[in-house]
Amino acid sequence: MSAERNPAPLLAARDIHKNFIIKDDRGPAQTLKAVDGVSLDIAPGEVVGVVGESGCGKSTLGKTIMWMHEPDDGTLTWKGKDMIAVSGAELKVIRKDMQMIFQDPYSSLNPRKMVKDIISQPLRVHAQGDKDEIARRTEEVMREVGINPVYGRRYPHQFSGGQRQRIGIARALALEPDFVVCDEAVSALDVSIQAQILNLLLDLKDRHGFANLFISHDLSVVEFISERILVMYLGRIVEKAPKTELMAEPLHPYTRALLAAFPIADPSVRSTKKQIVVGDVPSPLNPPTGCHFHPRCPLAADRCREVYPPLVEVAPGRQVACWEVSAG
Ligand SMILES: Nc1ncnc2c1ncn2[C@@H]1O[C@H](COP(=O)(O)OP(=O)(O)OP(=O)(O)O)[C@@H](O)[C@H]1O
Ligand SMILES: [Mg+2]
Repeated sequence: MSAERNPAPLLAARDIHKNFIIKDDRGPAQTLKAVDGVSLDIAPGEVVGVVGESGCGKSTLGKTIMWMHEPDDGTLTWKGKDMIAVSGAELKVIRKDMQMIFQDPYSSLNPRKMVKDIISQPLRVHAQGDKDEIARRTEEVMREVGINPVYGRRYPHQFSGGQRQRIGIARALALEPDFVVCDEAVSALDVSIQAQILNLLLDLKDRHGFANLFISHDLSVVEFISERILVMYLGRIVEKAPKTELMAEPLHPYTRALLAAFPIADPSVRSTKKQIVVGDVPSPLNPPTGCHFHPRCPLAADRCREVYPPLVEVAPGRQVACWEVSAG
């Protein structure tokens, strides 16, 4: 498994920026850099995890690469096509191939609609066949996610949290997308249910071969499902690595801190690297100078306070943005 499986990524994002303008009554408008120069490639069928603390820009990144937010800068290429240049009609075709599974099946499923109508909605929007064909596909995808089609006339509140997430997955997979973004897709569920849903996603991915950007603040969840992991901090990627390498030897001090808070499977591996991250995440409206992590970093030196470190390749497939690590 190579890191960025070129030359034909499914999706390629280069130097993506997404800002929000924050305005309140007390002062002038401020620019919040939610995603601040992120590049990533996703190969067909690959599962890439994105992890980082709340507010670091994971959801904004997911929405921007799916074109739910228009990027302020950067390029996005889908199957070799520049998404910024395509027409509205082409974008609709691309959108059919990209689906999102959200955290909260309570709020993302319309409570007034029967589940068969919720699941078939994308099929109807994209005119995927006549009434019978749509009904057949809806039943098929319900079976695939483990919901008996006889329950199609029930409403979301008549299902448990885990079942509701299965309904969300069925809706996302109805159109057989090539790319699925899961944003905290299991975060609202009990741990035992989380495992069932993660296994279901892996199963479905094996069967259908869709690529997956799996976003979670929970490293154990990201570790379970991903082949490759991106670690975000205040709008930027600070480390990119194949999962096994990242877990065995995290390089960025922030990744090490995340791992230190992680249940230890093999204490001999991690005991020497244990560092606890101190302090809160700074406001993205006013990020620290230099490396944004420096106020919390045990390795911070003068240069870290002054200049943001570039994300550099330190080993095949491994990139890290840290002056202290890349200096060797
Ligand atoms: N629509 C919006 N308008 C203004 N600010 C926003 C908007 N969406 C996100 N933000 C801000 O952008 C930053 C990144 O938010 P985002 O939701 O992407 O983070 P996240 O990593 O997904 O966090 P969480 O783990 O809490 O879901 C945060 O500071 C957030 O407050
Ligand atoms: Mg989020």
